Amino acid sequence: MKNYEMKFPKGFLFGTATAAYQIEGAWNEDGKGESIWDRHVHDANGKVSRNETADVAIDHYHRFESDFDILKEIGTNAYRFSLAWTRILPDGIGEINQKGIDFYNKVIDALISRGITPVVTLFHWDLPASLQEKGGWANPECINWFKNYAEICFKNFGDRVKYWITLNETYAFTFFAYGAGFNPPCIKDFKMAIKCAHNALVAHGTVVKFYHSLNQGGKIGIALDLVPKLPISDDPKDVEAAEIANGTTHFFFYEALIHGRYPEKMVKVCTEKHIMPEINPEDFKIITEKCDFLGVNFYYTQAAKYVEGAGRFDYQITARGLPLTMGDWELDPDGFLALLKKLKEDTRGEIPIIITENGFSPADRRPKEQELEDDNRIEYLSLHLGVLHKAINEGLDIRGYMLWSAFDNFEWNCGFGPRFGIVHVDYDTLERTRKKSSYWYQNLIEYQDK
Ligand code: NOJ
Repeated sequence: MKNYEMKFPKGFLFGTATAAYQIEGAWNEDGKGESIWDRHVHDANGKVSRNETADVAIDHYHRFESDFDILKEIGTNAYRFSLAWTRILPDGIGEINQKGIDFYNKVIDALISRGITPVVTLFHWDLPASLQEKGGWANPECINWFKNYAEICFKNFGDRVKYWITLNETYAFTFFAYGAGFNPPCIKDFKMAIKCAHNALVAHGTVVKFYHSLNQGGKIGIALDLVPKLPISDDPKDVEAAEIANGTTHFFFYEALIHGRYPEKMVKVCTEKHIMPEINPEDFKIITEKCDFLGVNFYYTQAAKYVEGAGRFDYQITARGLPLTMGDWELDPDGFLALLKKLKEDTRGEIPIIITENGFSPADRRPKEQELEDDNRIEYLSLHLGVLHKAINEGLDIRGYMLWSAFDNFEWNCGFGPRFGIVHVDYDTLERTRKKSSYWYQNLIEYQDK
């Protein structure tokens, strides 16, 4: 059997994924406002590799038609992308920028005319800078800002967009941004980060409820980055360390959305350290508003080990010697399967899953010829799609797979270093060239009709 010969259920979404800031460019064109990422890269604060910016990115803003021709050629039937809040509302609230609405109308129509279903993320980290000046996610007003923005999007695009994602990777723009201080606004205040995370979850639930009240006949969910931290040994101290590591990172959000509470150990340690903000238990009623699907971004797993005094919570992330993909990401398709089974169990199989991101970047930079012959990506994809195939055959309700990414693009603080695309982009000429993996994906998609 060739490694793409796997049959998925009828109607399965075979897509690719991108995000506005990483591909669009045109950062200040046609009335677009400034986002916190625009500000961050222009600050030259040393956080972004080689001080690169996505001012031009891959110039998708001017090239989306030909980019979608490539996606059509590959045969994908879905495409996940995000809306730049600042194109639609330059200041985050207030006046609407009609040119921003026009742009996304053209994008949506261009996809539909090619038989590609749009899967739209409302927020993929590029918060309007004016809202950051008002406190960003730390200000509970953000719930109203986000609802107002979402309402404008549903009203303008909801007739054609039937898949919505509220927030992408909540961990990255709350804990990683306000706690660890890596992503903008680069604040290091863990208590504030927990507040932001809580506000973002309430904003999500509020928008899910609101969307359902509109009866537009579509589906809405969230895209969570789930990086399971497995104990390095059976030692109860390592087991507890892994539990704390999960609860103070990605599974903080998962636990709230699925179980309507914050992880017990996380609450305990944060209370002991006086960094647990006051939480209104009534908020969990909003947070747990039922999603129509759960979006899962999966790339790797990690191992946690108890080390007294290490970091804030006495644990260390340690390598197990598995093969590495990007940087220190350990390849773990078995961990992916275990995660999917856990999701099914925790949700009693009642919430369908869409894989909203999964993909590969080599750890090192390579010449273009080597980039195009990306057998290592093909291996990664076939392992992970193989897991999905198996999980579906075992009865899991998985509706789609959005490969990250359609095109090489701007990888946040890593700049243009990592290349996740199945289509190569020459950053000097902006020329697009299909990589071998895009033909592999095409074969898999074509195989569905054989
Ligand atoms: C997570 C993010 O959603 C996306 O923006 C990023 O580029 C990929 N994963 C790869 O790191």
